[in-house]
Amino acid sequence: MKKIAVLTSGGDAPGMNAAIRAVVRNGLHKGWEVYGVRLGYAGLISGNIIPLGAREVGGIIQRGGTVLGSARCVEFKTEAGRAKALRSLRQFDIEALIVIGGNGSQTGAYELSKMGFPIVGVASTIDNDLYGSEMTIGVDTALNISLEALDRLKITASSHQRAFLLEVMGRECGYLALMTGIAGGAESIIIPEVPLDPEDVVDHIHKAYEKGKAHAIIVVAEGAKYNATKLAAYFDEHHERIGFDLRVTILGHIQRGGNPSAFDRILASRLGAGAVDQLEKGEAGVLMGLLHGEVSPTSLEEVVNNKKKIDLRLFELANILD
Ligand code: F6P
Repeated sequence: MKKIAVLTSGGDAPGMNAAIRAVVRNGLHKGWEVYGVRLGYAGLISGNIIPLGAREVGGIIQRGGTVLGSARCVEFKTEAGRAKALRSLRQFDIEALIVIGGNGSQTGAYELSKMGFPIVGVASTIDNDLYGSEMTIGVDTALNISLEALDRLKITASSHQRAFLLEVMGRECGYLALMTGIAGGAESIIIPEVPLDPEDVVDHIHKAYEKGKAHAIIVVAEGAKYNATKLAAYFDEHHERIGFDLRVTILGHIQRGGNPSAFDRILASRLGAGAVDQLEKGEAGVLMGLLHGEVSPTSLEEVVNNKKKIDLRLFELANILD
């Protein structure tokens, strides 16, 4: 009999619930006891830990967000905070912890694992910026939300001969913006990974206008040097050279809400169950991610010391297809 706990941390992502469910049910399947930590690392510090049975995770696979709650916990970044977290785990006789989250959460997991506690991470963030997983839980759903927004904007943009700046989330990573732009046939895509002269964007939109296009959609990553707000200010000063009338839509947290897609539910189920299997093998200190289609472990040390790169050939493709 083994006692394990699971928590969700950082920005919530659609599919986290499916991952929690998979951890609990695979744990119970092995005859283990499973506990849930409420509100991420903050709950670990305060000992907000509850037993989870099969029924507690019933009816959640289709729900976005996280039933355990999440938080960005500053105290856990301190040694004293992590020592408190460790005390809570020991008070509940918990032998291993599964951390579902993105970069910040897995950095926390690594720090705790260096203190000797067995931890397995599960790759989950809408940003898709986590080393060790080609796709993270939540990306597919967030991408489909931004794509739907783009499709909708295109309709009204065409009716009014307008240009739209559509800003999508992604922190420092341009993945969501790039994929939204390709899938939606955007005229321009602006991402942090590719430096940009706003003058080139003005020229580009002007060319689209001269070609007689009914609209121009520019997808902008929130982490780009020129985000939607800055670009809109620049465009305002050069309005006469653009041609189109301009509007701005910033999607923000709308992208994190909503029910998880089939892809995210399946990915989350595989990674959550895989994390439990990994603990059974006695091989902790890793992140479970998707590599070449397989659920695969990567050491947390490697995860936190590497930056995931996006495939810039896709950026070139977008430029050819626009
Ligand atoms: O990491 C996920 C994410 O949604 C980023 O895309 C975004 O920059 C950030 O979280 C927003 O954080 P918060 O929910 O704390 O405002």
